[in-house]
Amino acid sequence: MRNRTGVRHSKEQRFGVKAGVPSAQPKSSSCLMWWIKRGLLAVCLIYVSVPFMMRLFPGIIKHLVYSHRVRVPFFIELCQPAKLYLNHTVNMYLTSEQGISLGVWHTVPESQWKEAQGKNLGWYQKSLGDGCPIVIYLHGNGGTRAASNRVGVMNVLSAMGYHVLALDYRGFGDSSGEPTEVGLTTDALYLYHWVKARSGNSQVIFWGHSLGTGVATNTAVKLMEQGIVVDGVIIEGSFTNIRQEGANHPFAWYYLNFPGFEYFFLDPMAENDLFFPNDENLKRMRSPLLILHAEDDHIVPIHMAQQLYEIALTAQKSENRVKMIQFNGSLGYLHNGLYKDPHLPDIIREFVHSLAR
Ligand SMILES: *[C@@H]1O[C@H](CO)[C@@H](O)[C@H](O)[C@H]1NC(C)=O
Ligand SMILES: *[C@@H]1O[C@H](CO)[C@@H](O)[C@H](O)[C@H]1NC(C)=O
Repeated sequence: MRNRTGVRHSKEQRFGVKAGVPSAQPKSSSCLMWWIKRGLLAVCLIYVSVPFMMRLFPGIIKHLVYSHRVRVPFFIELCQPAKLYLNHTVNMYLTSEQGISLGVWHTVPESQWKEAQGKNLGWYQKSLGDGCPIVIYLHGNGGTRAASNRVGVMNVLSAMGYHVLALDYRGFGDSSGEPTEVGLTTDALYLYHWVKARSGNSQVIFWGHSLGTGVATNTAVKLMEQGIVVDGVIIEGSFTNIRQEGANHPFAWYYLNFPGFEYFFLDPMAENDLFFPNDENLKRMRSPLLILHAEDDHIVPIHMAQQLYEIALTAQKSENRVKMIQFNGSLGYLHNGLYKDPHLPDIIREFVHSLAR
């Protein structure tokens, strides 16, 4: 039925064009209808074909999860952090594995900014042993270490007197290689050992955001297998695991009622070795944990973080070692904005002071 009308209208339209007659009112409105119908048909076709594309081209799901090719902010020279961000920051490249070069920023505590001017890599490396806490910042998917919300967190930590090391995992930013879950863990693990080799007795803490929370807990569990308990782990905007996050992501709303949603969208993640199992990891992890979450987080609903809190509390059996701070939804922080909270430095300081020395 729809097809037949479509064909008829298209003929009418062709006649109109040939004759060069300006369309009369009724004709142009039927022409508009023709375009609307075509448009709707195209949208329907795209809607239906997306799930099949997911199964046919498994690489797509990796690109959706990592979004590493989205190198926002664009046109930024990651090798010159002092120009675009803090003037007490150095850029360096570390080799986490043969053939994998990682772009990393090291920001020293803000109080050292004058001293840091014009200093080389050697000076920065030596400064890691100055006793100030060190945060390894593990960012979420998409974009680079220069994204404004990431720089926002680094600013807060540096002003508090902490060192911050922020890397772009393999395949992100100016780092080489392609992302895989094992690869991201390898990169974070490498950076941790690199820092520990230079940090003396300083506390070393992981801060993971969004997808980076999966990297943080994967790495903390991997370290436990090596007999190492990380001094502290902070997870911001954390999900239970990537499968459940996939089902809760705003993108999934369009497909929740699509027949075979799990088969088309969630199974390909596992088939592509995408798990990021924060829930399983927290059953094993023994590092003190701080969970930060905005009530109005639109990417990761807060009930996931609350679930993680319960899991970690059961596993560690201590309210001193597992903390959760929820930010009131009326503050409007959503998924990325809680670095703006004026109470954040106090919250972090209290957590860091509570860590065992
Ligand atoms: C360097 O950074 C510090 C701290 O952020 C700031 O107070 C200072 O004005 C900056 N100096 C220059 C020359 O940009
Ligand atoms: C959040 O903030 C609003 C407005 O300030 C307030 O009415 C509400 O009680 C707060 N909610 C919680 C859970 O604290």
